[in-house]
Amino acid sequence: MNETHILFSKFNSVFGKNSTPIRHFSAPARINIIGEHVDYVGGIVLPAAINFSIQVLIQRNDTDDFILYSEDFQQSTKVGRPFQNSKEYPWSDYIVGVISELEKKGHKIPGFNLLINGNIPQGAGLSSSAALEVVVGYAIANLFSLNLSREDIALIGQAAENHFVGTNCGIMDQFIIATGKKDFCISLNTNSLKYQYHKFELGEFEFYLINSNVKHSLKDSAYNQRRQECESALSKIQKLNSEVQNLYSFDIDTKDLYPFSNDEMKRIQHITSERKRTDTIITSLTNGDFAKVGTLLFECHWSLSKDYEVSCEETDFIVSFLQNKGALGARMIGGGFGGCVLVLDKKENFSVIGSELEKNYKQKFGHGVSYYQFTISDGVKELI
Ligand code: GLA
Repeated sequence: MNETHILFSKFNSVFGKNSTPIRHFSAPARINIIGEHVDYVGGIVLPAAINFSIQVLIQRNDTDDFILYSEDFQQSTKVGRPFQNSKEYPWSDYIVGVISELEKKGHKIPGFNLLINGNIPQGAGLSSSAALEVVVGYAIANLFSLNLSREDIALIGQAAENHFVGTNCGIMDQFIIATGKKDFCISLNTNSLKYQYHKFELGEFEFYLINSNVKHSLKDSAYNQRRQECESALSKIQKLNSEVQNLYSFDIDTKDLYPFSNDEMKRIQHITSERKRTDTIITSLTNGDFAKVGTLLFECHWSLSKDYEVSCEETDFIVSFLQNKGALGARMIGGGFGGCVLVLDKKENFSVIGSELEKNYKQKFGHGVSYYQFTISDGVKELI
Protein backbone atom coordinates (compact mmCIF):
# COMPACT_ATOMS: atom_id res chain seq x y z
CA MET A 1 0.00 0.00 0.00
CA ASN A 2 1.40 3.41 -0.86
CA GLU A 3 0.98 6.48 1.40
CA THR A 4 -2.20 7.68 -0.33
CA HIS A 5 -3.87 4.27 0.07
CA ILE A 6 -2.93 4.23 3.74
CA LEU A 7 -4.47 7.70 4.16
CA PHE A 8 -7.74 6.71 2.44
CA SER A 9 -8.02 3.54 4.47
CA LYS A 10 -7.39 5.55 7.64
CA PHE A 11 -10.16 7.93 6.55
CA ASN A 12 -12.56 5.02 6.07
CA SER A 13 -11.70 3.57 9.44
CA VAL A 14 -12.23 6.94 11.21
CA PHE A 15 -15.40 8.05 9.39
CA GLY A 16 -16.89 4.73 8.19
CA LYS A 17 -16.93 3.64 4.56
CA ASN A 18 -19.72 5.08 2.40
CA SER A 19 -20.23 6.12 -1.20
CA THR A 20 -19.79 9.90 -0.74
CA PRO A 21 -16.66 10.94 -2.70
CA ILE A 22 -13.51 11.80 -0.76
CA ARG A 23 -11.19 14.46 -2.16
CA HIS A 24 -7.48 14.85 -1.42
CA PHE A 25 -5.62 18.19 -1.17
CA SER A 26 -2.07 19.15 -0.27
CA ALA A 27 -0.33 22.40 0.75
CA PRO A 28 3.44 22.97 1.02
CA ALA A 29 5.68 24.54 3.66
CA ARG A 30 7.59 27.72 2.83
CA ILE A 31 10.98 29.32 3.16
CA ASN A 32 11.65 33.02 2.88
CA ILE A 33 14.88 34.11 1.19
CA ILE A 34 14.76 37.73 2.31
CA GLY A 35 12.28 40.29 3.67
CA GLU A 36 11.77 39.08 7.24
CA HIS A 37 9.31 40.75 9.58
CA VAL A 38 8.32 43.27 6.94
CA ASP A 39 5.07 41.71 5.66
CA TYR A 40 2.99 43.65 8.19
CA VAL A 41 4.63 47.00 7.48
CA GLY A 42 4.00 47.01 3.72
CA GLY A 43 7.36 45.45 2.77
CA ILE A 44 8.59 43.20 -0.02
CA VAL A 45 9.19 39.52 0.77
CA LEU A 46 10.82 36.76 -1.30
CA PRO A 47 9.32 33.43 -0.23
CA ALA A 48 9.09 30.07 -2.01
CA ALA A 49 6.98 26.96 -1.37
CA ILE A 50 8.98 23.84 -0.48
CA ASN A 51 8.30 20.11 -0.61
CA PHE A 52 7.05 19.39 2.90
CA SER A 53 3.27 19.17 3.05
CA ILE A 54 0.05 19.08 4.96
CA GLN A 55 -2.55 16.90 3.31
CA VAL A 56 -6.27 16.69 3.94
CA LEU A 57 -8.97 14.28 2.87
CA ILE A 58 -12.42 15.84 2.86
CA GLN A 59 -15.97 14.55 2.30
CA ARG A 60 -19.42 16.12 2.63
CA ASN A 61 -21.35 14.57 5.50
CA ASP A 62 -24.85 16.04 4.87
CA THR A 63 -25.10 17.44 8.40
CA ASP A 64 -24.33 20.87 9.86
CA ASP A 65 -21.31 19.55 11.78
CA PHE A 66 -17.62 19.38 11.01
CA ILE A 67 -15.91 16.20 12.11
CA LEU A 68 -12.16 16.69 12.25
CA TYR A 69 -9.45 14.09 12.73
CA SER A 70 -5.73 14.83 13.15
CA GLU A 71 -3.42 11.94 12.37
CA ASP A 72 -0.53 13.77 14.11
CA PHE A 73 -2.40 14.13 17.38
CA GLN A 74 -4.50 10.97 16.88
CA GLN A 75 -7.50 13.01 18.01
CA SER A 76 -10.96 13.55 16.66
CA THR A 77 -13.43 16.35 17.45
CA LYS A 78 -16.90 17.31 16.30
CA VAL A 79 -17.47 21.04 15.83
CA GLY A 80 -20.79 22.83 15.54
CA ARG A 81 -21.98 26.43 15.63
CA PRO A 82 -21.42 28.88 17.30
CA PHE A 83 -17.69 28.52 16.61
CA GLN A 84 -15.41 28.69 19.62
CA ASN A 85 -11.72 28.21 20.31
CA SER A 86 -10.87 24.78 21.65
CA LYS A 87 -8.65 24.36 24.70
CA GLU A 88 -8.69 20.60 24.31
CA TYR A 89 -7.93 20.46 20.56
CA PRO A 90 -5.94 23.64 19.76
CA TRP A 91 -5.04 22.27 16.28
CA SER A 92 -8.74 22.46 15.33
CA ASP A 93 -8.71 26.29 15.73
CA TYR A 94 -6.85 26.68 12.42
CA ILE A 95 -9.66 24.81 10.63
CA VAL A 96 -12.60 26.29 12.50
CA GLY A 97 -11.05 29.76 12.04
CA VAL A 98 -11.13 29.26 8.27
CA ILE A 99 -14.77 28.08 8.29
CA SER A 100 -15.71 31.01 10.50
CA GLU A 101 -13.97 33.55 8.21
CA LEU A 102 -15.62 32.03 5.12
CA GLU A 103 -19.01 32.36 6.79
CA LYS A 104 -18.26 35.99 7.70
CA LYS A 105 -17.85 36.55 3.97
CA GLY A 106 -21.35 35.16 3.40
CA HIS A 107 -20.57 31.55 2.43
CA LYS A 108 -22.66 29.09 4.47
CA ILE A 109 -20.44 26.02 4.76
CA PRO A 110 -22.21 22.61 4.88
CA GLY A 111 -20.86 19.92 7.21
CA PHE A 112 -17.89 17.75 6.27
CA ASN A 113 -15.53 15.07 7.50
CA LEU A 114 -11.86 16.02 7.40
CA LEU A 115 -8.67 14.08 8.01
CA ILE A 116 -5.35 15.95 8.36
CA ASN A 117 -1.93 14.46 7.95
CA GLY A 118 1.43 16.11 7.33
CA ASN A 119 5.18 16.18 7.57
CA ILE A 120 5.90 19.91 8.08
CA PRO A 121 7.92 20.13 11.29
CA GLN A 122 5.88 22.20 13.76
CA GLY A 123 7.41 25.25 15.44
CA ALA A 124 10.25 25.20 12.91
CA GLY A 125 9.40 28.49 11.22
CA LEU A 126 8.24 26.68 8.06
CA SER A 127 4.58 27.73 8.39
CA SER A 128 2.80 24.51 9.21
CA SER A 129 -0.15 26.53 10.54
CA ALA A 130 -0.51 28.66 7.40
CA ALA A 131 -0.32 25.47 5.31
CA LEU A 132 -3.18 24.01 7.32
CA GLU A 133 -5.30 27.15 6.93
CA VAL A 134 -4.67 27.35 3.20
CA VAL A 135 -5.24 23.67 2.46
CA VAL A 136 -8.50 23.74 4.41
CA GLY A 137 -9.69 26.94 2.66
CA TYR A 138 -8.78 25.53 -0.74
CA ALA A 139 -10.41 22.16 -0.03
CA ILE A 140 -13.65 23.77 1.16
CA ALA A 141 -13.72 26.16 -1.80
CA ASN A 142 -13.32 23.25 -4.22
CA LEU A 143 -15.68 20.86 -2.45
CA PHE A 144 -18.52 23.38 -2.32
CA SER A 145 -17.66 25.24 -5.56
CA LEU A 146 -17.08 28.61 -3.86
CA ASN A 147 -15.82 31.17 -6.31
CA LEU A 148 -12.55 32.10 -4.58
CA SER A 149 -9.16 32.91 -6.07
CA ARG A 150 -5.90 31.66 -4.54
CA GLU A 151 -5.30 35.20 -3.26
CA ASP A 152 -8.76 35.20 -1.59
CA ILE A 153 -7.93 31.91 0.11
CA ALA A 154 -4.63 33.33 1.39
CA LEU A 155 -6.47 36.32 2.88
CA ILE A 156 -9.07 34.05 4.51
CA GLY A 157 -6.23 32.00 6.05
CA GLN A 158 -4.54 35.12 7.42
CA ALA A 159 -7.85 36.39 8.83
CA ALA A 160 -8.40 33.02 10.54
CA GLU A 161 -4.97 33.29 12.18
CA ASN A 162 -5.50 36.97 13.17
CA HIS A 163 -9.08 36.75 14.42
CA PHE A 164 -9.57 33.17 15.57
CA VAL A 165 -6.15 31.78 16.51
CA GLY A 166 -4.96 35.17 17.81
CA THR A 167 -1.56 35.66 16.14
CA ASN A 168 -1.39 38.96 14.34
CA CYS A 169 0.67 37.54 11.45
CA GLY A 170 1.22 39.21 8.08
CA ILE A 171 0.19 37.79 4.70
CA MET A 172 3.47 36.24 3.49
CA ASP A 173 3.00 32.62 4.59
CA GLN A 174 -0.57 32.09 3.43
CA PHE A 175 0.13 33.95 0.19
CA ILE A 176 3.12 31.87 -0.94
CA ILE A 177 1.44 28.62 0.12
CA ALA A 178 -1.56 29.58 -2.04
CA THR A 179 0.35 30.88 -5.08
CA GLY A 180 3.70 29.01 -5.07
CA LYS A 181 5.04 27.48 -8.27
CA LYS A 182 7.61 24.69 -8.72
CA ASP A 183 11.16 26.12 -9.18
CA PHE A 184 10.07 29.74 -8.61
CA CYS A 185 10.12 32.10 -5.66
CA ILE A 186 7.90 35.17 -5.64
CA SER A 187 8.61 38.77 -4.81
CA LEU A 188 5.45 39.91 -3.11
CA ASN A 189 4.70 43.52 -2.34
CA THR A 190 2.67 43.12 0.84
CA ASN A 191 1.28 46.63 0.49
CA SER A 192 -0.35 46.16 -2.93
CA LEU A 193 -0.37 42.32 -2.99
CA LYS A 194 1.18 42.49 -6.46
CA TYR A 195 3.71 39.75 -7.06
CA GLN A 196 6.11 38.36 -9.62
CA TYR A 197 7.62 34.90 -10.10
CA HIS A 198 11.43 34.60 -10.22
CA LYS A 199 13.54 31.62 -11.23
CA PHE A 200 17.21 31.32 -10.37
CA GLU A 201 19.82 28.67 -11.14
CA LEU A 202 21.93 27.83 -8.11
CA GLY A 203 24.54 25.85 -10.05
CA GLU A 204 27.25 24.66 -7.64
CA PHE A 205 25.39 26.20 -4.66
CA GLU A 206 22.40 25.06 -2.64
CA PHE A 207 19.95 26.29 -0.06
CA TYR A 208 19.22 23.98 2.87
CA LEU A 209 17.72 24.26 6.35
CA ILE A 210 19.04 23.58 9.83
CA ASN A 211 16.38 23.22 12.51
CA SER A 212 17.58 24.40 15.93
CA ASN A 213 14.90 22.12 17.39
CA VAL A 214 13.81 24.78 19.86
CA LYS A 215 10.68 26.86 19.98
CA HIS A 216 10.74 29.48 22.72
CA SER A 217 7.44 30.15 24.42
CA LEU A 218 7.49 33.94 24.01
CA LYS A 219 7.23 33.51 20.25
CA ASP A 220 3.59 34.55 19.77
CA SER A 221 3.49 37.31 22.39
CA ALA A 222 6.77 38.83 21.16
CA TYR A 223 5.50 38.67 17.58
CA ASN A 224 2.39 40.65 18.46
CA GLN A 225 4.54 43.07 20.45
CA ARG A 226 6.83 43.76 17.46
CA ARG A 227 3.76 44.59 15.40
CA GLN A 228 2.55 47.00 18.06
CA GLU A 229 5.95 48.70 18.20
CA CYS A 230 5.83 49.17 14.42
CA GLU A 231 2.30 50.54 14.59
CA SER A 232 3.16 53.00 17.33
CA ALA A 233 6.27 54.18 15.40
CA LEU A 234 4.14 54.70 12.29
CA SER A 235 1.52 56.65 14.17
CA LYS A 236 4.25 58.97 15.54
CA ILE A 237 5.45 59.53 11.98
CA GLN A 238 1.97 60.10 10.58
CA LYS A 239 1.12 62.67 13.26
CA LEU A 240 3.78 64.90 11.73
CA ASN A 241 3.85 63.63 8.18
CA SER A 242 0.65 62.06 6.89
CA GLU A 243 2.25 61.26 3.52
CA VAL A 244 4.24 58.31 4.93
CA GLN A 245 1.97 55.34 4.15
CA ASN A 246 3.84 52.59 5.92
CA LEU A 247 6.99 51.97 7.93
CA TYR A 248 8.72 50.20 5.04
CA SER A 249 8.82 53.40 3.01
CA PHE A 250 10.08 55.57 5.89
CA ASP A 251 13.19 57.65 5.20
CA ILE A 252 15.50 56.83 8.11
CA ASP A 253 17.51 60.02 7.52
CA THR A 254 14.53 61.95 8.93
CA LYS A 255 14.48 59.92 12.16
CA ASP A 256 15.52 62.85 14.39
CA LEU A 257 12.25 64.63 13.63
CA TYR A 258 10.22 62.05 15.56
CA PRO A 259 9.99 61.11 19.25
CA PHE A 260 10.74 57.39 18.80
CA SER A 261 11.55 55.21 21.79
CA ASN A 262 14.82 53.31 21.73
CA ASP A 263 13.04 50.07 20.83
CA GLU A 264 11.05 51.71 18.05
CA MET A 265 14.27 53.09 16.61
CA LYS A 266 15.83 49.62 16.54
CA ARG A 267 12.79 48.11 14.78
CA ILE A 268 12.93 50.88 12.17
CA GLN A 269 16.63 50.25 11.69
CA HIS A 270 15.91 46.60 10.82
CA ILE A 271 13.01 47.38 8.52
CA THR A 272 14.74 50.09 6.52
CA SER A 273 17.99 48.11 6.20
CA GLU A 274 15.99 45.02 5.14
CA ARG A 275 14.49 47.06 2.30
CA LYS A 276 17.97 47.71 0.86
CA ARG A 277 19.05 44.08 1.31
CA THR A 278 15.92 42.86 -0.45
CA ASP A 279 16.45 45.06 -3.51
CA THR A 280 20.05 43.88 -3.82
CA ILE A 281 19.25 40.19 -3.26
CA ILE A 282 16.60 40.14 -5.97
CA THR A 283 19.13 41.50 -8.48
CA SER A 284 22.02 39.35 -7.22
CA LEU A 285 20.01 36.11 -7.38
CA THR A 286 19.04 36.82 -10.96
CA ASN A 287 22.65 37.71 -11.87
CA GLY A 288 24.07 34.68 -10.08
CA ASP A 289 26.08 36.77 -7.58
CA PHE A 290 25.65 34.27 -4.74
CA ALA A 291 28.55 35.62 -2.68
CA LYS A 292 26.63 38.89 -2.40
CA VAL A 293 23.40 37.07 -1.54
CA GLY A 294 25.21 35.14 1.20
CA THR A 295 26.75 38.26 2.75
CA LEU A 296 23.34 39.89 2.90
CA LEU A 297 21.75 36.82 4.48
CA PHE A 298 24.25 37.07 7.35
CA GLU A 299 23.57 40.80 7.64
CA CYS A 300 19.85 40.11 7.74
CA HIS A 301 20.33 37.59 10.54
CA TRP A 302 22.28 39.98 12.74
CA SER A 303 19.79 42.73 12.07
CA LEU A 304 16.96 40.39 13.17
CA SER A 305 18.99 39.40 16.20
CA LYS A 306 20.32 42.78 17.39
CA ASP A 307 17.82 45.34 16.09
CA TYR A 308 14.57 43.43 15.73
CA GLU A 309 15.38 41.10 18.65
CA VAL A 310 13.52 38.04 17.41
CA SER A 311 16.40 35.54 17.35
CA CYS A 312 17.64 33.37 20.23
CA GLU A 313 20.86 31.86 21.53
CA GLU A 314 20.45 28.65 19.55
CA THR A 315 19.89 30.17 16.10
CA ASP A 316 22.56 32.82 16.77
CA PHE A 317 24.96 30.00 17.62
CA ILE A 318 24.22 28.15 14.37
CA VAL A 319 24.62 31.27 12.23
CA SER A 320 27.88 32.30 13.98
CA PHE A 321 29.26 28.82 13.60
CA LEU A 322 28.51 28.75 9.87
CA GLN A 323 29.88 32.25 9.41
CA ASN A 324 33.14 31.31 11.15
CA LYS A 325 33.45 28.19 9.02
CA GLY A 326 33.17 30.23 5.84
CA ALA A 327 29.66 29.25 4.71
CA LEU A 328 28.32 31.61 2.05
CA GLY A 329 25.30 32.84 3.99
CA ALA A 330 22.77 31.88 6.69
CA ARG A 331 19.95 33.42 8.66
CA MET A 332 17.00 32.53 10.86
CA ILE A 333 13.71 32.46 8.97
CA GLY A 334 10.09 33.08 9.92
CA GLY A 335 8.81 34.56 13.14
CA GLY A 336 11.95 33.67 15.12
CA PHE A 337 12.66 32.60 18.73
CA GLY A 338 13.91 29.24 17.48
CA GLY A 339 13.01 27.18 14.44
CA CYS A 340 15.07 26.96 11.27
CA VAL A 341 18.13 28.64 9.82
CA LEU A 342 18.25 28.92 6.02
CA VAL A 343 21.76 28.27 4.69
CA LEU A 344 23.25 29.11 1.30
CA ASP A 345 26.50 27.36 0.55
CA LYS A 346 28.56 25.37 -1.93
CA LYS A 347 27.04 21.90 -2.32
CA GLU A 348 29.94 19.91 -0.86
CA ASN A 349 30.40 22.12 2.23
CA PHE A 350 27.47 20.65 4.12
CA SER A 351 29.15 17.26 4.51
CA VAL A 352 32.29 18.99 5.86
CA ILE A 353 30.80 21.34 8.47
CA GLY A 354 27.57 19.51 9.33
CA SER A 355 28.98 16.93 11.73
CA GLU A 356 31.17 19.50 13.49
CA LEU A 357 28.18 21.79 14.00
CA GLU A 358 26.14 18.89 15.35
CA LYS A 359 28.87 18.04 17.87
CA ASN A 360 29.37 21.63 19.08
CA TYR A 361 25.66 22.38 19.24
CA LYS A 362 24.93 19.25 21.24
CA GLN A 363 27.72 20.07 23.66
CA LYS A 364 26.30 23.53 24.28
CA PHE A 365 22.55 22.91 24.23
CA GLY A 366 22.22 19.24 25.15
CA HIS A 367 20.41 18.21 21.97
CA GLY A 368 21.12 18.09 18.26
CA VAL A 369 19.95 19.98 15.18
CA SER A 370 18.07 18.55 12.18
CA TYR A 371 19.04 19.09 8.55
CA TYR A 372 16.51 19.38 5.75
CA GLN A 373 17.24 19.47 2.05
CA PHE A 374 14.32 20.65 -0.05
CA THR A 375 13.13 21.52 -3.51
CA ILE A 376 10.96 24.49 -4.48
CA SER A 377 7.49 23.17 -5.10
CA ASP A 378 3.96 24.09 -6.17
CA GLY A 379 1.45 25.85 -3.95
CA VAL A 380 -1.74 24.26 -2.66
CA LYS A 381 -3.34 21.75 -5.04
CA GLU A 382 -5.72 18.84 -5.38
CA LEU A 383 -4.10 15.41 -5.68
CA ILE A 384 -5.95 13.11 -8.04
C1 GLA B 1 5.70 34.56 10.59
C2 GLA B 1 4.42 35.26 10.11
C3 GLA B 1 4.65 35.98 8.78
C4 GLA B 1 5.89 36.87 8.83
C5 GLA B 1 7.07 36.10 9.40
C6 GLA B 1 8.27 37.00 9.62
O1 GLA B 1 6.04 33.51 9.72
O2 GLA B 1 3.38 34.33 9.95
O3 GLA B 1 3.50 36.72 8.44
O4 GLA B 1 5.64 38.03 9.56
O5 GLA B 1 6.77 35.48 10.65
O6 GLA B 1 8.71 37.52 8.40
